[in-house]
Amino acid sequence: MKSIGVPLFFLTYSSLVFGLPHVGKNVRMPQPVKRSNDSDPGSMLQLSSDGDFHFEILRALALAPYQGSDVGEVLVAADHIIAGDFESYYNAFYSLADRVHNQASAIDPSRYPVSARNAYFREATYYRSADFFLHGNWNDSRINMLWDKQLAAYDKAISLLPVPGERITLQGKGFQIPAIFFGSGQPGHRPTILMCTGYDGSQEELYHIIGEAALQRGINVITFEGPGQPTVRRQQNIGFIPEWEEVVSPVVDYAISRSDVDGKKLGLLGLSFGGYLAPRAAAFEHRLAAVIAFDGLYSFGQVIFDEFGPEMEALYRAGNSSAFDANIFALLAQPTGVPTSVRWGIEQGLWSFKETSPFAWATQVDKYRLDGVVQNITTPVFVADAQNDMFFKGQGKILADKLGDLATYHVFESIDGAGEHCSLGASVLSGQVILDWFQDLVSSS
Ligand SMILES: *[C@@H]1O[C@H](CO)[C@@H](O)[C@H](O)[C@H]1NC(C)=O
Ligand SMILES: *[C@@H]1O[C@H](CO)[C@@H](O)[C@H](O)[C@H]1NC(C)=O
Ligand SMILES: *[C@@H]1O[C@H](CO)[C@@H](O)[C@H](O)[C@H]1NC(C)=O
Ligand SMILES: *[C@@H]1O[C@H](CO)[C@@H](O)[C@H](O)[C@H]1NC(C)=O
Repeated sequence: MKSIGVPLFFLTYSSLVFGLPHVGKNVRMPQPVKRSNDSDPGSMLQLSSDGDFHFEILRALALAPYQGSDVGEVLVAADHIIAGDFESYYNAFYSLADRVHNQASAIDPSRYPVSARNAYFREATYYRSADFFLHGNWNDSRINMLWDKQLAAYDKAISLLPVPGERITLQGKGFQIPAIFFGSGQPGHRPTILMCTGYDGSQEELYHIIGEAALQRGINVITFEGPGQPTVRRQQNIGFIPEWEEVVSPVVDYAISRSDVDGKKLGLLGLSFGGYLAPRAAAFEHRLAAVIAFDGLYSFGQVIFDEFGPEMEALYRAGNSSAFDANIFALLAQPTGVPTSVRWGIEQGLWSFKETSPFAWATQVDKYRLDGVVQNITTPVFVADAQNDMFFKGQGKILADKLGDLATYHVFESIDGAGEHCSLGASVLSGQVILDWFQDLVSSS
């Protein structure tokens, strides 16, 4: 989500953007982006006066069409959240998750499997939501406690699907890849979409965003996570790696080994920062029939450096790590006045890249650019863009232009409620457009 006017921050599946205040003489105090606009026919009702909280509350609500949440209970939780107060966000969703946990535990799954599955899926979503803003203190025991609870609830849910989800662990170079195979239940070998998310999302969430929509159309789904993503970061203690093909290729190997998968009809979908990771992998992994960048992202490094602003970038290019780090730490130390998107974006970046120094983190981020590899992509790519994308504005178009004839570029519009980053809140519409494209592509091949 991003901004407007002020150079600033941030990033991926989450957040708004504000100018990164430069500490010292050039302090620019951040101004929240005001997003509700009476003269804009595509403006959306805000669920919090904190734009980042709005986005994250919407993110939970947005899972409702495909079993990931229910509307009223999320709105009740939202009413207990104080704008900008991370602990209030945790408390509201943790207490909802516990309520739904108790509901789910009281259902006999052998008699009422659908009811139990629905409740376990919602429980898992709310434990994930409770975790979302907690990564500033890596030692916070809630980070693993909540994840264990979400995994346990989710695994009960997927065991109760008409075709139960299968957890698998694949071997990468120096790390393991947790994945889930979801069979469509249709006979024969089927088209299959491999799905990963980005900077802060989980494979569990992907089922509700577009996984179930694919299954309903007879497409198998394999979700997976690589280094830096929530389960790998916690259980294997590994941060993001730029070589995303090292994550994708073992998943492709696995997919083509299955008799219910049509290895000539494999898609790879990347959500949010995954809209960079998927095309990056496709430059090296040529067994895919289609790539979906949802939304398209050409240069993650460029986006982040633009948000840091020219003074911070100059410190970085000069190799001045002490001043760079001091500025970021001074910002984070401010008790108030730092926009949620900035605080969260930095905290999540350090945690997910597993760097304690912001300078070291920036050094990693600088590697995430498609320059020099984009020309090696040989697969058709659906490049989604969102009219009101606050993170990656302009990036989808750049990716589509670089891909030329390989790209199908589609802008999701605000008037349809689909203009947010990753068309958050419009999963039915975005699923229709993306999956119909995939179906046409693989049925003509
Ligand atoms: C409000 O929306 C209108 C129409 O899209 C646009 O021209 C205007 O710049 C917006 N105002 C603000 C403050 O964003
Ligand atoms: C976390 O714990 C380690 C080891 O006990 C300590 O060195 C580190 O400073 C702690 N970090 C935070 C953010 O409290
Ligand atoms: C790093 O930047 C700070 C602040 O601008 C400056 O005082 C310091 O001399 C710089 N250090 C180096 C090694 O360039
Ligand atoms: C891209 O393709 C060119 C020529 O086909 C090849 O020389 C180069 O090694 C490839 N680059 C990557 C990153 O695979």
